[in-house]
Formats: sequence, structure tokens, C-alpha cells
Amino acid sequence: MSRPRLILIGAGGHAHACIDVIEKHGGYQIAGLVGRPNEMHAKHFDYDVIATDKELAALSKTHQYAFITVGQIQTPDHRIRLYQRVTELGFQLPVIISPTAYVSRHATIGAGTIVMHGAIINAGANVGNNCIINSRALVEHDSMVEDHCHISTGAILNGYVSVGAGSFVGSGSMVIQGVTLGQRSVVGMGLAVRQNQVEYARFMGSDKT
Ligand SMILES: CC(C)(COP(=O)(O)OP(=O)(O)OC[C@H]1O[C@@H](n2cnc3c(N)ncnc32)[C@H](O)[C@@H]1OP(=O)(O)O)[C@@H](O)C(=O)NCCC(=O)NCCS
Repeated sequence: MSRPRLILIGAGGHAHACIDVIEKHGGYQIAGLVGRPNEMHAKHFDYDVIATDKELAALSKTHQYAFITVGQIQTPDHRIRLYQRVTELGFQLPVIISPTAYVSRHATIGAGTIVMHGAIINAGANVGNNCIINSRALVEHDSMVEDHCHISTGAILNGYVSVGAGSFVGSGSMVIQGVTLGQRSVVGMGLAVRQNQVEYARFMGSDKT
């Protein structure tokens, strides 16, 4: 039986990492990428940029599945806008989990979320929609990651951590157990977060909060 065709929305570096995970996952056939006008017809490994955002409505008539492959650091706005648009158009957003990741059967993962190579999501954790749990990130037991968050490469959320919607936790950063990050927080890379953070916090280390 042929695999469902999947449209990737976003044609930058994060898309490359996603392509590798989607190929290893094996459940979908990548139909092509959606990019900016100046990215049209560019090749990304075996796949072409076949359309721009303007053609999403037309694509929704011929394709059931889409996945957002735009990255997220400073702001979640682009990923949120695209998520709302593709949902309104009736696309279904799958959950993509790398076969090298570990996701507890006691954890939940929302639509449009990718769990990349080597990541761990432990028992009792809940991860929302449209999130990136990047390579080798750890979401420990009973943690909550709300919609539209990016937990970056090698970041560690310890037990009972709560990450508000639209937040970014940088590469290699650690969040002590039980801490809450307000929505749209940005945590720089390589840092230790020991206290709750307010909404829109930009945490750059204790002396630069
Ligand atoms: C947090 C971040 C987004 C801020 O970027 P920015 O808005 O461009 O800010 P800047 O890099 O100009 O840094 C502002 C200040 O904070 C400091 N700072 C930034 N990130 C820091 C960090 N992780 N640790 C300590 N200080 C940091 C900078 O040195 C600078 O200090 P200064 O004002 O004294 O010169 C960026 O530094 C970062 O950490 N990006 C994430 C990288 C990452 O995890 N990538 C993986 C993607 S998968």
C-alpha cells in the first residue's frame, strides 16, 4: 500500500533535519516543500520546492497531510501563523517521532509535533501541538510543554517543568524540576534555569535576565 503524501512547509535548515526524521519514520512519502518565492524549484536532498504559501489552498485540494518545517528561535509567530492557516485549510498534521527517540506510552504528543533523533519524552509528560522536540532533548516525567514550543538540541526539562505556549529553550540548557516558564519565553543556549520565568521572559543567565 502506498504511503500518504506529505507536504513540508518551510525550506530552510530545519527542514533538512525534519526530512531525515520523516524518512526514518517511514510512514509518509514527502511530496515536496513549500518555500518563499525565491526558493521555488530549489532541491533539498531528493525533494523540490513545489509551491509558495500562496498555493497552499490549491495544495489542500490534492493533499491531505502537511507538516510545518520552519524553524523557531526568536519568535514562534511564523510557525503559529502557518499552523493556523494549514489547519483552517483542512490539512491534517501528523505526529512524527524518530525511531531513535524514546516516547513513553504514558506521555502524550499533539498534532504537528516532531520528536527528533535521540530525544526522550518520559512518563506523564504532555507535549502540545506544533512543537519541535529537537535532537537529544529530554522532557522528563510529568513535564508539560504547551503548543508551538521548540525544545532545542540537547536541552533538558526536568520533572514537573511547565513550558508556556510559544516558548524556546536553547541548545543544552537545563530547567530545574518544577519550574514554570511563562508563555513565549526565550531561554538562551547553555544556561541553567532555576526560577520561574514570567511571560515573554528572555533568560540569558542569572545576571542578564
Ligand atoms: C537567546 C538568543 C536567541 C538571543 O539572541 P539575540 O537576541 O540575537 O541576542 P544576542 O545574541 O545579541 O545577545 C544579547 C546579550 O545576551 C548575551 N547572551 C545571549 N545568549 C546568551 C547565552 N546563551 N548565555 C549567556 N549570555 C547570552 C549576549 O552575550 C549579549 O550580551 P551583551 O548585551 O552583553 O553583548 C541566542 O543567543 C541563543 O541562545 N540562540 C539559541 C541558539 C540555539 O540554541 N540554537 C539551536 C537551534 S536548534
